[in-house]
Amino acid sequence: MSTQSKTQIYICKTCKPEGFTGEDGDRPGNLLAKELVAAARAKGLNVDVEMKAVDCLSVCTRPCTVTFSAEGKFTYIVGDLEPGRDVDDLLAFSELYGAATDGITTWRERPECVRKHTIARVPPIGCAGVLVSEIEDS
Ligand code: FES
Repeated sequence: MSTQSKTQIYICKTCKPEGFTGEDGDRPGNLLAKELVAAARAKGLNVDVEMKAVDCLSVCTRPCTVTFSAEGKFTYIVGDLEPGRDVDDLLAFSELYGAATDGITTWRERPECVRKHTIARVPPIGCAGVLVSEIEDS
């Protein structure tokens, strides 16, 4: 049994490009969410990964937006994603992220859409050490 915490992927289902006039169910964010769930199931990744749709991740100017997080790991926020284009890369990143103890993956290892479109990498609560240090008084 794995001691790694389960990867949680949040997908903004309301993301849409400027000027989009289609139905809510056809929003690119919603389509990406459905594609990711179906592809993860097909690959058998749904055991290690939990996916949930979110109404908005407050990154509306960078549609579509997805986050990767897990207990004790850095969180990645990735934007400018497209259904039909980025699903394989996102699932590949999910596996990479799941295998990384602290969630930190090297830039070279990351699939292209994650390399190019990471908006933020946020330390976990209480993180000290890797990439995080105290602020010294002057
Ligand atoms: S609508 Fe997707 S981040 Fe706001």
